[in-house]
Amino acid sequence: MNSLDELFARNRSWADERRRDDPRFFERLVRQQSPDYLWIGCADSRVPANEIVGLDPGELFVHRNVANVVVHTDLNCLSVLQYAVDVLDVEHVIICGHYGCGGVKSALRNERLGLIDNWLRHVQDVMRKHHAQLEALPDDGSRQRRLCELNVIEQVLNVSETTIVQSAWDRGKSLEIHGWIYDLSDGLLRDMHVAVRSQGEFQEIYQRMLDR
Ligand code: CO
Repeated sequence: MNSLDELFARNRSWADERRRDDPRFFERLVRQQSPDYLWIGCADSRVPANEIVGLDPGELFVHRNVANVVVHTDLNCLSVLQYAVDVLDVEHVIICGHYGCGGVKSALRNERLGLIDNWLRHVQDVMRKHHAQLEALPDDGSRQRRLCELNVIEQVLNVSETTIVQSAWDRGKSLEIHGWIYDLSDGLLRDMHVAVRSQGEFQEIYQRMLDR
């Protein structure tokens, strides 16, 4: 059996198992999805969104890209956000970064990897914005960790500033933008306590996040 056949075999036993646990599982999912959360995370294979928060198919709407970046001209990410907020009516958007992020590390080291360098320019912009704070740290390891955190904070800012989120708040929709970080070394999520619920509290929370 080659490795791709192996994936189909695993898929069949996964589907069988789901049906054994809950005979109407797929029937229900076909009718509708009603996730309560949108997860925007890194594409890294070690950070599987549903799995680390223990959610089933249908419970988490997911967008992943390298280094969990939200760019205001990225039609792909913006479409996911708009669909999640306006159509699926999710009330929580979670930006989840992770320590040990290869994209963040490459950005910090200014590595030359190819096309991806252009995408990681966005992380380098975060780095340049917080240059003084990063330079004050004692070593490369702590700079990497802090840049992973700062990148999450900046993406919370980016999500909050989209017309999608601004319009949702304007019409009184309940919508919170969260910044979390996942640690590969212990499998645990940490809340960065940056839940932004409205335009008004945003600037204050942003400043507090950066000062800590
Ligand atoms: Co990553």
